[in-house]
Order: sequence, then structure tokens, then C-alpha cells
Amino acid sequence: MIKIYAPASIGNINVGFDSLGIALSRLDGGILGDYVSITSSKKFILISQGCFFNDLPKDFYKNIIFHCWSKFCNKIGKIIPLKIILEKNVPVASGLGSSSCSIVAFLKAMNLFLNNPLNDNELLILMGELEKSLSGHIHYDNVAPCYLGGIKLILITDNLIIQDIPVFENWFWVIAYPGIKLSTYNSRKILPKYYNKNICIKQSQYLAGFIHASHTKQESLAAKLMKDFIAEPYRKLLLPNFENFCQISKKLGSLSYGIAGSGPTLFTIFNNLNIAQKMVKWLKTNYIKNNKGFVYICVVNKKGAQILEKK
Ligand code: HSE
Repeated sequence: MIKIYAPASIGNINVGFDSLGIALSRLDGGILGDYVSITSSKKFILISQGCFFNDLPKDFYKNIIFHCWSKFCNKIGKIIPLKIILEKNVPVASGLGSSSCSIVAFLKAMNLFLNNPLNDNELLILMGELEKSLSGHIHYDNVAPCYLGGIKLILITDNLIIQDIPVFENWFWVIAYPGIKLSTYNSRKILPKYYNKNICIKQSQYLAGFIHASHTKQESLAAKLMKDFIAEPYRKLLLPNFENFCQISKKLGSLSYGIAGSGPTLFTIFNNLNIAQKMVKWLKTNYIKNNKGFVYICVVNKKGAQILEKK
């Protein structure tokens, strides 16, 4: 039996559309990720549970875990029947890398179960392809931090290059999920096909500057450069109360704020815990739409996907 935990993550973190992402842990130690357990079985069995399992398709062959399993079997050229238990704790279509949590936890578990037929690079490529099957485009900014932990910069050249970006240890990431769904597929569809040259130049400067400032420990410069000229101008129109959220974040002295991945979760960063708690209060009253919503203070999860049981 193998049990894996894979944490939630925020893709883009404003400045690196499809290129930067951070893995998260709740400051209060609560769960913010999916669990996958696998055991050998005579046939394929998938059991879904957890607080967000109702978000999942009822037919198991429409569940991303089934696609992960069949892709993995294809890749190794063997059908391996398994009994899989998915504990779905991250809301689907939330902007918190929910599908990545399931993809990463399952692929890590299956690979381990079979004594690692795939290396990290092959696994990550598979993870990216599975993300593409859901969102329509390949992007690694959730799967890479979810699998490896920390903040990751992902470069797709002739091959996949993943770089670790230093984190500011004193940053508290306040996240607010309103309890409503917004699929990555739909929030990518509203983005323009082409961008103005000045926007491209500006975004390149900000991203390069952010990476440099992170490496040289220039906290306020890094925070100042965490801006999104690519997606936020379009996606913010889908989010109620976004302008108020920006105003309050600014007023409370947030280092940076924006949309987590493709939304609707918002994030805002503070280096003062008391002020972060004030922001939590505001978000609970003004951004949460129903009892599925939540607001948490998070820090970076440096470990990524973890083995919880192996016997
Ligand atoms: N980079 C992806 C997007 C992240 O913004 O569409 C999805 O969570």
C-alpha cells in the first residue's frame, strides 16, 4: 500500500504566466492537498472521498485519475490493475491547482508502487500532458511546485527545465476561495490570442526583475515586480469584488495581490501576521459566497508531494 499527499499550489503568482508557481501549506497545519492511496487489485477500482469529492465527475472514467492510470499503463506498455482511493480536499476549478494535486499524488504513488519505472523528468512531462487534457494548454506551473515543492520557474525549451527560486521566508500568503467554480479551460478562453509588443516587453522586464530580486534577497523590489499584465486585466472581470479586494490589500500594506492561477481564488501577501489576519476577516465577510468557501493563511510548502505510507 502506498499513500501520497500532494499540496495545493498557485500558478503564475502574477508575474510568470504559465512559468512560475508556488506550493502551499496552511499556517495552522490543516490539510490543503489531495491524498491518493493505492493497493494491488484484480481490477481497476477508484473510490473518491474527501470534502470536495462531490465536485468530481460521477463516472470514474471521466475522473482525471483514470486518465492518469491509463496514460501511465500506456507509457510502460502494461496494464496494472489497482485499487485507488482519492481523497479530494482541494476544490475543483478553484485556481489552487486541484487537478495537479490528484495527478501528482497518483503518478507519484503508481511510480513508487512499480519501483520507479519513470524518472522525475518523464513523470513531470506526463503530468504536464494530463494538465493539458483538462485545460487545453500545456502548463507546468501547478504540477512542478506541487511535485517538487517551493517556488519553481518552468522553462519549456527543447526540453523541460525547472529552476528553484528562493522564497521570502517571512511572507504570509492569504488565500480566499469563494466557493464557486471557474474552470481553467474557460478562463484561458477569454485571453487574447496575441499581445501588444509593449505588454510583452513590460512583462519580460518584470519577470526577469522578480527572479533577480528573489535571488539577491531584495524583498520590496521582488514584491513590487509581482504584476500581471497578461491575464489579470481580462480575468478580473470574472471576479466579483476584485477592485475592492485590491483597494483593501493596498490599504493594509499587502506586498502583492492578485488572482491565484486562473481564479476564482485570490491571494494577497503580507510580512506581518496580525495584518494578514485582518485581511482574513475582510475576505471572509466580503469574498466568500457559500459554505464551500474558505480563507487561509499559507506559507510555502518546500517538500512538495510526500510519501505518507509505504508497505
Ligand atoms: N497558468 C495557468 C493559467 C494556471 O493561468 O491558466 C492555472 O491554474
